Amino acid sequence: MSPTQIKVPILDLKPQYHSIKAEIRDAIDRVLDSGAFIMGPDVKLFEAEVAQYLGVKHAIGVNSGTDALVIGLRALGIGAGDEVITTPFSFFATAESISSVGAKPIFVDIDVDSFNIDPHQIEAAITAKTKAIMPVHLYGRAANMTAIMEIATKHGLKVIEDCAQSFGSQFYDAANPTLSGKQTGTIGEIGAYSFFPSKNLGAYGDGGLIATNDDNLAEMARMLRAHGAKKKYHNEILGYNSRLDTLQAAILRVKLPHIDKWNQGRRRVAQIYWDLLANVPGVTAPAVVDGHVFHQYTIRVAGGQRDAVAQAMNEQGISTMIYYPIPQDKLPVYLGQYDLQANSELLATEVLSLPIWPELESDIQAQVVEVLARSLT
Ligand SMILES: Cc1ncc(COP(=O)(O)O)c(C=O)c1O
Repeated sequence: MSPTQIKVPILDLKPQYHSIKAEIRDAIDRVLDSGAFIMGPDVKLFEAEVAQYLGVKHAIGVNSGTDALVIGLRALGIGAGDEVITTPFSFFATAESISSVGAKPIFVDIDVDSFNIDPHQIEAAITAKTKAIMPVHLYGRAANMTAIMEIATKHGLKVIEDCAQSFGSQFYDAANPTLSGKQTGTIGEIGAYSFFPSKNLGAYGDGGLIATNDDNLAEMARMLRAHGAKKKYHNEILGYNSRLDTLQAAILRVKLPHIDKWNQGRRRVAQIYWDLLANVPGVTAPAVVDGHVFHQYTIRVAGGQRDAVAQAMNEQGISTMIYYPIPQDKLPVYLGQYDLQANSELLATEVLSLPIWPELESDIQAQVVEVLARSLT
């Protein structure tokens, strides 16, 4: 790298922190001064505020997005002998949650435009053991919830939405006024969110959330996060130690009022990339559809060039990431257990995520795209 060369990370959390630093410091001090570190007042307050934001009856803070999925599945009564339909094209926590409650993930291929589960292929995967569908709103774009809910209703299946990457995104479908405009995670029985620091609503450590409108599921989830007890020391079932940390809840309370502005910032960045990439042959850019909150900005690089392009960009100071190089059904943990899915296999060789964060400046984006164009042969 020459001394004048630019250096662009895949994500920069510092501008956001600096814009809210004083409020964050105050919130942390307030918790430290109170000494209420476990299930302190900020947890309940955050749960109430986030439930209102999402438009759901219950929001239950947990330790991580992974735990939100595991506890969500357990609350739905899913376990050994059951099958859950999901996408191969996601982070392993999706399938891992299903396997870890003793059920079997059944992988249904994705649609190449949305990167999300293809509802047209779901019905063929339903068996007598199928209990639920777990769509993932990958990269911040809602899956086709109209089609998924229709199939779930028809076959008596539950829907648990993996919203780890989609906090604040909405599902839009002009032909379905009942669901259109709803927050992802509030359409199925359960929504599971992650507050991992890099997520759209990120804590400064691990955190997660379960959203539901169902009183019984909420009660079960609250029990499961606290060692299976409704009342302290009266444990009724095997649960987990999966409380949302009070410091993280206090931090998230500062951040929540800003989330729509930050997601708008991501959409602005995505629109600028879209315009810039229109002049770059050989790449397919993701459309800026309504409700998409661009947790990742992921392009497709065809013709077997992706890895070389990523390496060339890296050498010129531009960080990129590959989400995900191996579909879940092909991971060593499931070796030989599944027939692989064509679109997921193809996209694992083509996807390339470019730098994105709400405050990313357009002149830096222009340089990213210039380096990308130069790296394509
Ligand atoms: C799609 C998806 N599901 C689940 C998770 C798990 O979230 P956490 O890291 O908070 O456990 C992640 C996090 O990266 C994710 O991207």
